[in-house]
Amino acid sequence: MVAYLKSLKQADFTDKSIVPAFLYKQQKKEGGNEQGGANLPDGAELFTTNCASCHQANGEGVPGAFPPLKGSPVVTGGDLELYVTIIMKGYDPRPEFATMPPVGMNANFTPEDVTAIMNHERTSWGNNAKKVTVEEVKVIMDKIK
Ligand code: HEC
Repeated sequence: MVAYLKSLKQADFTDKSIVPAFLYKQQKKEGGNEQGGANLPDGAELFTTNCASCHQANGEGVPGAFPPLKGSPVVTGGDLELYVTIIMKGYDPRPEFATMPPVGMNANFTPEDVTAIMNHERTSWGNNAKKVTVEEVKVIMDKIK
């Protein structure tokens, strides 16, 4: 039996060099430098992992497929319920773009994750909108659940 189990040759995850780097980077960082003193995860990392494949690292999207988040009225505007709903449940109102899947639900985003991503997008690529708080986001996430 032991010989059989040993023969199964499981990948050796004790060797950190073969584990994708993002698995480690996703761990929450110390130091409450975000609004309200909350210990938020790294919004830039979360964006890279969950959003950049479509919206691109430069936030400019892909014409005819993925809209830009740079200069987006949703990202920089005041309708936080729409913004949070898009992140959690996906979005598909316009025929000229592809369909955004429910990225947040699939990834089990916490209010902290969503807040960190929103604040990253609201302050990147020339966007200059007021940061949102975990409290604001949590109220909306509870409501749209
Ligand atoms: C699989 C591709 C894909 C991924 C991954 C993705 N999106 Fe989207 N996103 C889209 C598409 C497509 C639309 C436009 C849908 C439409 O208008 O019909 C969109 C629209 C949006 C909008 C509305 C922009 C506007 O100005 O109308 C926001 C905000 C947004 N996404 C944020 C995010 C965030 C934040 C993430 C990561 C958590 C993310 N998206 C991940 C494909 C994606």
